[in-house]
Amino acid sequence: MPRRQLFVTTALPYANANFHIGHIMEYTQADIWVRFQRLQGHEVHFVCADDAHGAPIMIAAEKAGLTPQAFVANIAAGRKPYLDGFHIGFDHWHSTDAPENHTLSQDVYRKLRDAGLIEIRSIEQFFDPAKGMFLPDRFIKGECPKCGAKDQYGDSCEVCGAVYAPTEVKNPYSVLSGATPVLKTSDHHFFKLSDPRCKQFLEQWTHEAGRLQPEVLNKIKEWFTVDEEGKGGLGDWDISRDAPYFGIEIPDAPGKYFYVWLDAPIGYLASLTGHFAKLGQDVDAFLADPATEQVHFIGKDITYFHTLFWPAMLHFSGRKTPDRVYVHGFLTVNAEKMSKSRGTGIDPLRYLELGLDAEWLRYYLAAKLNDRVEDLDFNPEDFIARVNSDLVGKYINIASRAAGFLAKRFEGRLSATLGTDGDAVITKLQAAAPGLAALYDGREFGKALREIMGLADAVNEYVDAHKPWELAKKPEAAAELHEACSTCIEAFRLLTLYLKPVLPALSTKVEAFLQVAPLTWADAETRLGAHAIGAFQHLMQRVTTEQVEALFTKPEPPAPVPGGEPIAAEITIDDFVKPDLRIAKIVKAERVEGSTKLLRLTLDAGEGRTRNVFSGIAGAYKPEDLEGKLTVLVANLAPRKMKFGVSEGMVLAASHADEKAEPGVFVLEPHTGAQPGMRVR
Ligand code: 2FM
Ligand code: ZN
Repeated sequence: MPRRQLFVTTALPYANANFHIGHIMEYTQADIWVRFQRLQGHEVHFVCADDAHGAPIMIAAEKAGLTPQAFVANIAAGRKPYLDGFHIGFDHWHSTDAPENHTLSQDVYRKLRDAGLIEIRSIEQFFDPAKGMFLPDRFIKGECPKCGAKDQYGDSCEVCGAVYAPTEVKNPYSVLSGATPVLKTSDHHFFKLSDPRCKQFLEQWTHEAGRLQPEVLNKIKEWFTVDEEGKGGLGDWDISRDAPYFGIEIPDAPGKYFYVWLDAPIGYLASLTGHFAKLGQDVDAFLADPATEQVHFIGKDITYFHTLFWPAMLHFSGRKTPDRVYVHGFLTVNAEKMSKSRGTGIDPLRYLELGLDAEWLRYYLAAKLNDRVEDLDFNPEDFIARVNSDLVGKYINIASRAAGFLAKRFEGRLSATLGTDGDAVITKLQAAAPGLAALYDGREFGKALREIMGLADAVNEYVDAHKPWELAKKPEAAAELHEACSTCIEAFRLLTLYLKPVLPALSTKVEAFLQVAPLTWADAETRLGAHAIGAFQHLMQRVTTEQVEALFTKPEPPAPVPGGEPIAAEITIDDFVKPDLRIAKIVKAERVEGSTKLLRLTLDAGEGRTRNVFSGIAGAYKPEDLEGKLTVLVANLAPRKMKFGVSEGMVLAASHADEKAEPGVFVLEPHTGAQPGMRVR
């Protein structure tokens, strides 16, 4: 097969919360597919980014006392332990607020405008007079116009299920300020999806073979349909929002921003651009190459955006459109639907902290994934059964049954021949490679794993027929024992290769144990022969009921974190003692000419000399208020040459992540009695 060139993404997560198990499922699905393509020797660029913009994030940041940028940066900083922890190998992580995305989004907009596909219309919308901003539907509450239930959202009622316009709500109020919203008009920019050109293009694009799953196409046909009353069909899309809004400014409309869903998918291109910049390669050439395939993995709730808006935006701005959009269902836990913001009962980080193996979950999810838009349920008993009986019981055991005899009796060297039965088993396993490849490529992971476990069954039947433990008792059966154990190891190597997209870390361990180079799909056609393997090392544990129970037991709620700044990564006491913290007396404090931020402090830390330290607290303190006070100095910080002189240490102060946020910066002061030079520990 010619080498494929793939550009693969998952949906970009909102940067207002940590990942929940639903994210991990989507990333795992895409990661397995990507790893499989790489094993085939294809070129893959697998990227993602934080979806940074929009009113909810702006409001959450304000609540946390942070700028939206600082808020989003905090969330982004917490991504790594999840991705590394579950072996999700994105090549690049970006942000939709990065400069590349501003440039790309504005360019897409200009092209759409020049194509005559942007229209400005005046619309009436609820405005919060106290906050001075237009209110998204979700930030309006009131009484349901149908059943009268109180405190219902501006777009739908959770009591009677009615759907309505926010203007129909009785006694509406703003969730942000409690004020009664007023109707106000404003000019909004619309992407004219109703234009015949869009309709024609999308009809054709969505129907192209292999582009979309059949059930997705059916849904789209509904969206296209205009009923007898002339309702339905593709409507124009409101793509602008008024300031204040955290987003990208519309180039020819000051005070107007792109609605988050316009710039979010463009973030795919921004991330790819960032990735190619790192590689030092030409992203435009890659995207212009007809051989490049663009593939998006998404959840079913965002199908409309990815199969209508997104291809239309790309096409009418003169760009390549997605080759395939792969839609998956939702993840439920114990058949309970999860909430998009709160997730489910399973917290991914807690899963890892409890010592559960990431690859158990990868295996379990893969076993339940297929190419359809079906919901997938995490069921604890089923999880335990699949990990223990299949993964460990059927697969891992093959190696442990053979490795001991090989080490003790044959110095770890495999037999050059496998005998008739051994050859037959291995031939069967090798013959399965093309079928398994087709299942992986078609995202039929559950079917692939069932087939692999069927192969493992065949190997275990071979073992039961040959009984190495009995052969080992008969000296004359040495050759037969050698062949039986070598067959097991050869089979184990092939099974490991077939499971490698799902179990990358385990495969690495197996490759070390077998002393083979990293397995690729082409290795399905080779054999080890009289190869020497390494000492058997423990590969994978069984999961216990206690571990899974602990996963569902709620841990103590974490202490609230002021300012929303997450607690930094764990350190040891050895890390803690590295900074030498000393009590110091502020002998003198003075303003620094030419700086609005810095104060120059003269400190006595009991060393028989004074130190000169610059501190960024001029906005918070008058120099005279500090003189004579005690504080805490980082005494072993390397001296730093600054514009105004050398700073010989640093004084400690408390603040929110954004130092400018209320209530400001506070210098630390010890209780009365402390003396200059004392160590803080
Ligand atoms: O639904 C969501 O979580 C969105 N943040 C997905 C965006 S996908 C892409 F368009 F950026
Ligand atoms: Zn109601």
